[in-house]
Amino acid sequence: MTPTRLIFGKGVIEKLPEVMAQFGKKILLTYGGGSIKKIGLYDKVKELLSNFEIIELSGIQPNPKYDPSVLDGVRLCKENHVDVILAVGGGSVLDCSKAIATGAKYDGDPWELISYQAFAKESIPIVDIITLAATGSEYDPGGVISRTETNDKIGYVDPHNFPAVSFLDPTYTFTVSKKQTAAGCADAMNHIMEQYFCEDSTLLNDGFMEAGLKSLMVNAKKCLENPEDYTARAEMMLDCTYGCNGIYSLGNSRSGWPCHGMEHALSAYYDITHGEGLAIITPRWMKHILNEKTVHRFVKYGVNVFGIDGSLEKFEIAEKAIDETYKFFESIGIPMHLKDVGIDESRLEEMAHHVAVNEGLENAWSPLSEKDILDIFTASL
Ligand code: NZQ
Ligand code: ZN
Repeated sequence: MTPTRLIFGKGVIEKLPEVMAQFGKKILLTYGGGSIKKIGLYDKVKELLSNFEIIELSGIQPNPKYDPSVLDGVRLCKENHVDVILAVGGGSVLDCSKAIATGAKYDGDPWELISYQAFAKESIPIVDIITLAATGSEYDPGGVISRTETNDKIGYVDPHNFPAVSFLDPTYTFTVSKKQTAAGCADAMNHIMEQYFCEDSTLLNDGFMEAGLKSLMVNAKKCLENPEDYTARAEMMLDCTYGCNGIYSLGNSRSGWPCHGMEHALSAYYDITHGEGLAIITPRWMKHILNEKTVHRFVKYGVNVFGIDGSLEKFEIAEKAIDETYKFFESIGIPMHLKDVGIDESRLEEMAHHVAVNEGLENAWSPLSEKDILDIFTASL
């Protein structure tokens, strides 16, 4: 069950004081590199919360870092006895805030929680105002944290990480750049694909996910053409919000989320944009795992998402579907080779080993060995 309350629509921020008051007076306001100041959201939040005591943690980077951001946030919460965290920004700000929220209520090193050596018993409640449609962090219990010195990027999932309340106002996403809009679309599409490509699904789930994919493709293009298209931004936001919550695939068999497992190594080692890494890997992964056992899912995907003629031979449909996937990502301006995002062959083996050891992809729907992972990375160059 998802405990998060979603408050959706233009202008919903006016409810912020009433929502925050439920949790207390002392707020840790977390944000990134300044986009919320440029769009006027920072001033609006400060004005609405003038009766609260606000402590700030700024400068949270994309692919949020354990040191300094999580550690600084935990220290600020402990020192100031913070009642509630207000995360304002994209998925990185929200993910970092989740790790802070549990870390602040834990006596040991917060990394023990993120790396599953220990489990949180309590956390500080989180409210968020999401400003970028992509991760779905606003409606899920996950947070992805990077530790630079060990090249770790860990998906930290804990029920305590569900935000208590998420404000979704699509107008705050009008200023998201073309690069981040496209990367957000690719990320959300991949969240759906990671759930779609599995052994057992239902008609309801397949229909929901196919509609999500189609909606993302149509609306991302509209957002790129007209960044202030409210309806397109709104629909894209919801497609993304549902992404990692589990509702797209409730009851499906597990897939193992292989593309995320592989991409986390790319952004851990090279700090690239998550959605771009996923878009590069996804079609190569699809080609790699296409076989007699998996082809039926590609046929359904190709016919229902891309409208490919269902009377064609099954592998022809599957190949066309993979080509269409690649072409779509390319059409929204995503660089489609690892070399385009600064990754060469020098560390592919090391990354493949890291993924094989840490991500458990031998248990994925279509299992991946270290050699498979290396082959997919190599094909993505
Ligand atoms: O730092 P600021 O100045 O705020 O700028 C950000 C950042 O540079 C900017 N931005 C955000 N909202 C904006 C805006 N620029 C203009 N107007 C706005 N309204 O966009 C840049 C990217 O922000 P970031 O938060 O990093 O992007 P995203 O939301 O895509 O989050 C990516 C992170 O989330 C993780 C990824 O691995 C990555 O670390 N993920 C989290 C998941 C989850 N919690 O469920 C699932 C995903 O699979 C993903 O792994
Ligand atoms: Zn993702």
